Amino acid sequence: MGFDVERVRAEFPALSVLDEGRRRIYLDNPAGTQVPQRVIDRMTDCLVRTNANLGGYFPTTVAAEELVDAAHAAMADFVNASGPEEIVFGQNMTTLTFHISRSIGRRLEPGDEIIVTRMDHDGNISPWLLLAEDLGLTVRWYDFDPETYEFDTSRFADLLSERTRVVALNYASNLTGTLNDVKALVAMARDAGALTYVDAVQFAPHGLIDVREVGCDFLVCSPYKFYGPHQGVLWGREDILEDLFPYKVRPASPRSPGKFETGTLSHEGLAGTLGAVEHFAWIGTAMGGVGEGATRREAVAEGFRLSHEHETGLASRLIEKLAGIPGLRVHGVTNPNRMAWRVPTVSITVEGHAPKKIAGALAKDNIFVWDGHNYALETVRKLGLEDKGGVVRIGLAHYNTASEVDETVSAVAASVA
Ligand SMILES: Cc1ncc(COP(=O)(O)O)c(C=O)c1O
Repeated sequence: MGFDVERVRAEFPALSVLDEGRRRIYLDNPAGTQVPQRVIDRMTDCLVRTNANLGGYFPTTVAAEELVDAAHAAMADFVNASGPEEIVFGQNMTTLTFHISRSIGRRLEPGDEIIVTRMDHDGNISPWLLLAEDLGLTVRWYDFDPETYEFDTSRFADLLSERTRVVALNYASNLTGTLNDVKALVAMARDAGALTYVDAVQFAPHGLIDVREVGCDFLVCSPYKFYGPHQGVLWGREDILEDLFPYKVRPASPRSPGKFETGTLSHEGLAGTLGAVEHFAWIGTAMGGVGEGATRREAVAEGFRLSHEHETGLASRLIEKLAGIPGLRVHGVTNPNRMAWRVPTVSITVEGHAPKKIAGALAKDNIFVWDGHNYALETVRKLGLEDKGGVVRIGLAHYNTASEVDETVSAVAASVA
């Protein structure tokens, strides 16, 4: 049957909201997507029927416990974890990374080395820089090529040494949209004996995560970027999580994931996350080739395959049409042969026009885009754009359409005419 964008759009109530009669074009997706009705229903149901803390005997607490278990199991399927005990829920990626990096820090000594990259969102840089400051670690930076917007994988080996303990890198950039060869980088880091911490926040909405295939030790993502609620998720290799020192209160579980899930979780956030995983599984079964007997993982994988096809078509169209605007530069992969190495997050600048002016003009047309550094501070510095207002970021999601792309390109052209 194939990806039916109108059928997918019908699932999202926010897509039909009007502002004084005007339609909305949501291209602010890398900062958070809209949610389908099944996510809203899951969250409402949680608040209406299972609103209690865990560990008791009455119906609401029993149901809440079942829901929390179901959400862990859903995310385990989503990332292909070995089991639900490898899934740690938290407020967001940044908070989880600050938290787990402190636990990892208990294993480190002054003079140990960590590697961070200039392509990462600051959520996967500052927690490590501050840890280095606290413990006297040496920080090594992995740079990307500002012409190709890609890492030179062969250069990575130069940064590794017998003192490298942690490598923090991103799966896909939230600014350039570059998709990195994380599998190759992780393999090199692990060979050197380092722990690998992968930020998959921008990859998760666009491609199927397989932590076993990637081979990393930790991977983080944020359901609010893939059609779920504001929530963060960390996957960690079971033996490492079991070993890792937890910063926790004494009555909390000594086992993973409980020992890292400090305080009371957002049960409604977990319910919504379950709904987001079900959304991808629904696409896979309703529009794809998986049958009734398929596992949830198989259905999710098929959902991503279809969604990816649609998004790649939109991204190519966007990049091709933007190229017709004089003075416009796409800060990311544009070579049609390299499209497999980007996600549909397209950052642009136009000579002589401040990004905030373009974003403001688009907002007047009710087209939602972000401008600035988008917390990819090191990336805009490397690209020489920090003092120029960063970029305009046009971020596609699978509910966007070709006509939205065309309208957006026309609006960008008009804003700089
Ligand atoms: C690549 C990347 N990493 C990390 C984050 C931070 O995520 P969170 O808001 O869940 O802390 C973002 C948010 O935009 C991001 O794009």
